[in-house]
Amino acid sequence: MLVVDNSQALRAQIKQWRKAGETIAFVPTMGNLHSGHLTLMQRAKSSATKVVASIFVNPMQFDNQNDLTNYPRTLQQDSEALLDIGVDMLFTPTPQIMYPKGLDAQTYVEVPGISNILCGGSRGGHFRGVATIVAKFFNLVTPDIAFFGSKDYQQLQIIKLMVEDLSMDIEIVGVATVREENGLAKSSRNGYLTAQELNIAPLLYKTMQQVVDSIGRGESIASALEWGVNALNDGAFTVDYLQIKNAKDLSDVTDSDDELVIVAAAFLGSARLIDNMVFSR
Ligand code: PAJ
Repeated sequence: MLVVDNSQALRAQIKQWRKAGETIAFVPTMGNLHSGHLTLMQRAKSSATKVVASIFVNPMQFDNQNDLTNYPRTLQQDSEALLDIGVDMLFTPTPQIMYPKGLDAQTYVEVPGISNILCGGSRGGHFRGVATIVAKFFNLVTPDIAFFGSKDYQQLQIIKLMVEDLSMDIEIVGVATVREENGLAKSSRNGYLTAQELNIAPLLYKTMQQVVDSIGRGESIASALEWGVNALNDGAFTVDYLQIKNAKDLSDVTDSDDELVIVAAAFLGSARLIDNMVFSR
């Protein structure tokens, strides 16, 4: 596996592969890889002749300096996992490489509307940071196909909209959330949970499931959500949001929508956990 930390080396290798007729799949990450990330890598591996992964803890998408500083960085372990899977190139740039003029002078990409609700409402500028770094990576890697987890449902929809709106010729594939046996979505942030909190954490998934089931049995969305928020708060979570939206664009549900998604964000101790579940009615 080739490990490169600068744009020139990355571009030179991509050019060579293109000349040889290779196809390129791309998986961007912030590292501290778990089986959720590695599932994306495996999907990438079977969809193109070359796979590029990136590990970059992107300062532009953090609204909290402590969160950025404390984000787990495990490059050695991550490289070994990527090597095992057969990733061809790992891009590990520094913030100086990606943002040489600093964040304030950086041209940015922002997908309007959808970026300012849910996680974008509680984390100011978060999705501008995500869209900007992913657009930069897409311009450097020029992938045919790129893989994103459905766990970050809003992020996935924003990337799809960006690609459509900016006429990028890249196929975006959403991959189902990889979970622990107890339902907890795998996340780098689960490492912030104490042993006791880890026992409580699956309640987020269970509560979403119960809300969806009760809507299936005819309960109104509003009362099912009210029950869900109370169940989570009683279970030691502090709910940031628990909402049901149109699954495609996360707009508010209308009577004619049948593909819906329940989206949740809640604090448990020092960790902010997110999850979602698509369902129809
Ligand atoms: P990160 O949180 O490292 O996630 C990288 C990719 O792995 C994302 O597409 C995310 O949705 C996916 N992923 C995380 N947990 C998953 C799980 N349990 N099951 C399936 N996929 C999972 O998301 C980011 O990084 C960044 O915002 C990034 C897109 C790299 C831009 O900086």
